[in-house]
Amino acid sequence: MTQDELKKMVGEKAATYVEDGMVVGLGTGSTVKFMVDALGKRVAEEGLKIIGVPTSDRTAAQGRQLNIPIKNVDEVDHIDLTIDGADQIDKNFQGIKGGGAAHLFEKIVAINSKRNIWIVDESKMAAKLGSFPLPLEVIPYGSQQLYKRLAAKQLNPNFRKQANGDLVQTDSKNYIIDLKLGTIDDPFGLADYLNRQVGVVEHGLFLNVVNTVIVGYGDGPKVLE
Ligand code: 5RP
Repeated sequence: MTQDELKKMVGEKAATYVEDGMVVGLGTGSTVKFMVDALGKRVAEEGLKIIGVPTSDRTAAQGRQLNIPIKNVDEVDHIDLTIDGADQIDKNFQGIKGGGAAHLFEKIVAINSKRNIWIVDESKMAAKLGSFPLPLEVIPYGSQQLYKRLAAKQLNPNFRKQANGDLVQTDSKNYIIDLKLGTIDDPFGLADYLNRQVGVVEHGLFLNVVNTVIVGYGDGPKVLE
């Protein structure tokens, strides 16, 4: 099976967790795109009634195109379930997100959700976090100074750039700095340090956020709880 086929498989599986009447947080990324397609199909074919709370402009546009009613996170009084992708997940279900530069909105939606499910292909599962660079969303003002502080702390920062060399900008017009760490031995300690850095809007460590992960393997999706 190709990676895309695995992503589609877990996306479709996750869409079956959505029930009529739910307010559903919609993550961002190529795996979630398959899940939103599957939800759109259920809306069209079964008359499924849901409200989608998107975590990026991209996902909002896809939802609208599929006639999924879309509301902003501040327009709903609760979110029943959020389904999102991830860049890396360890054996304790701690994760790195932000490969798609959407982790700020994704974290806001996730922590306001009653339940969170992550959907990934098997390549995202790891014994320890860190081989995937850790994204930080940072305020442009002072970001060069922040970069220098992170470099002095041996955190190997890199501003994320587009193919044309321009800096990547998030939906909030912030920058992304990726930390090339190799291994993260103490995710909670690192999160604590990053939370204290002025100019870091949000880091991509998602700790104790999910309790269900659907992993795509060649022989089918596995639900880990
Ligand atoms: C976006 C994210 C994505 O969920 C993560 O990057 C996984 O994306 P994909 O499904 O395309 O591999 O965190 O900020």
